Amino acid sequence: MSLFRRRASRLALTVALLTVPNAALADISFTAPDADMSEHIVIFMDDDGERPGGMSAQMDETLERALETSGFEAGFGAHKTFYGLQDMPTVTVIGAGENDLDRRDLHDLGGYLAKVPGDVPLTIYVDGLETRVSAPGAELALGYRLGAYKFDTYKSKKSDAARDLIFAGADEDVSEALLSKDYDALADAVNMTRDLGNAPGLDIYPASFIERIRAEAKGVPNLKITVMGKRELDRAGMGAILGVGKGSVHDPKMLILEYTGAGANDAPLALVGKGITFDTGGISLKPNTGQWMMKSDLSGAAAVGGTVIAAAKRGADINLVGVMPLAENMPDGRAIRPGDVLTTYDGTTIEVMSTDAEGRLLLVDAVPYTIETYKPELIIDIATLTGSAGRALGDEYGALITRDFDLAQDMMDIGDRAGEDVWPLPLHPNHYDQIKSDIADIKSTAGAPGASIGAAVIGTFVEADQPWVHLDIAGVDWRDSATPTAPKGHAGWGVRFMDQLIRDYEKK
Ligand code: BES
Ligand code: MN
Ligand code: ZN
Repeated sequence: MSLFRRRASRLALTVALLTVPNAALADISFTAPDADMSEHIVIFMDDDGERPGGMSAQMDETLERALETSGFEAGFGAHKTFYGLQDMPTVTVIGAGENDLDRRDLHDLGGYLAKVPGDVPLTIYVDGLETRVSAPGAELALGYRLGAYKFDTYKSKKSDAARDLIFAGADEDVSEALLSKDYDALADAVNMTRDLGNAPGLDIYPASFIERIRAEAKGVPNLKITVMGKRELDRAGMGAILGVGKGSVHDPKMLILEYTGAGANDAPLALVGKGITFDTGGISLKPNTGQWMMKSDLSGAAAVGGTVIAAAKRGADINLVGVMPLAENMPDGRAIRPGDVLTTYDGTTIEVMSTDAEGRLLLVDAVPYTIETYKPELIIDIATLTGSAGRALGDEYGALITRDFDLAQDMMDIGDRAGEDVWPLPLHPNHYDQIKSDIADIKSTAGAPGASIGAAVIGTFVEADQPWVHLDIAGVDWRDSATPTAPKGHAGWGVRFMDQLIRDYEKK
């Protein structure tokens, strides 16, 4: 290959990453329950062996015999495909448990649809599913779109286009409207967040992160995009963000999305996300093992960007501000050192005990800036902040830290409904004492408990009467094994949580 061609294909790859949405979209439609069958149908079966979906009595009998011979055991999510049954299309049976399904169950069942073998369109019979949800077809479709996500930007051979789905008997008008006006944008947001978290640090740095968000936000009404470059950060006095970025060839930046969906005087909900495009640890260099995964240290910022864009696309009845401080944490002759003192946005000085505790340095500038500039009704910060949070809560729960017990309970309830659970960790007055510095106002780390210390550093910049929620997502943002709605790799965690939060605040 000539040098010129090499260069051309390399450019093409970067451009594809920045502008094209992940995997080709499926065509998802909704029809009446008595629709003609396609070559491959999907039937749900509950734990008692009941199959509520619409098949003729004769077909059902044929299927019954096939199920008996196969020894298939139902159970939520169990599935089996039968080929060549007499006078029947290919049939996949999926277990619907007790057939008493909430939204999360429907999303999971939708995720299983992505695992059905073959590529011909699927007709899915949903009319007999028992659920209190108003549009089960749309919920299944959302689950499918999340479960079907593939990150193949860097494969020379792309995976096939996602298959087409026809949901039969799913309250078709309601489901169609909910999907096209709302859930498609939500699925796009989760999948964009996954793209940003999966993409290598070589290609995602502050400027390219911003380009991807711009591409996704193009043409979306009532959405304003502001970028603060090095000069603006300097003028605003954000010495901590600037400090973190000093070792990198890529300048630090701060991206701000303002969505106006309510009255001009309505206080917004503010979402602030950590955007370290690669975390080597800086001079406090991380050990080699697993370092590659730090390409996903922008999870918080990516989730914030996705969430705000999704809310704007559906025209949410609320004001939102998404703030994404972005930097690459690299060791270099110009990089900050352990022991250096940085001056933050509000004038507080902070002694950098470890350059690997860089996420909080972004947040101690971005959080007070956001509070002062936007006076939010509630501020959430979301960050892959500490390995400690991951070790405490594993893959199951994002770590939640607030100073308000009622707010903590609200957040747990939101997480439950969103399908992204959170669990509280403490923030004690002693944690603030632990971060007193001998030479500056505060220091950036102080041993255990790591997640709480991290929160105390940020909490130092939040007045006691400001509603504030800190989410440490170091455990949940990346998955080593797949779930029905998330493949192995970046989970896009936080978009559905913050989306549910926005929906709750819209109603208030
Ligand atoms: N980005 C890491 C946290 C992290 C660890 C995220 C593992 C995902 C998986 C963060 O910047 C970090 O390095 N935190 C340090 C803090 C310590 C130096 C106080 C940590 O957790 O070890
Ligand atoms: Mn770090
Ligand atoms: Zn980090």
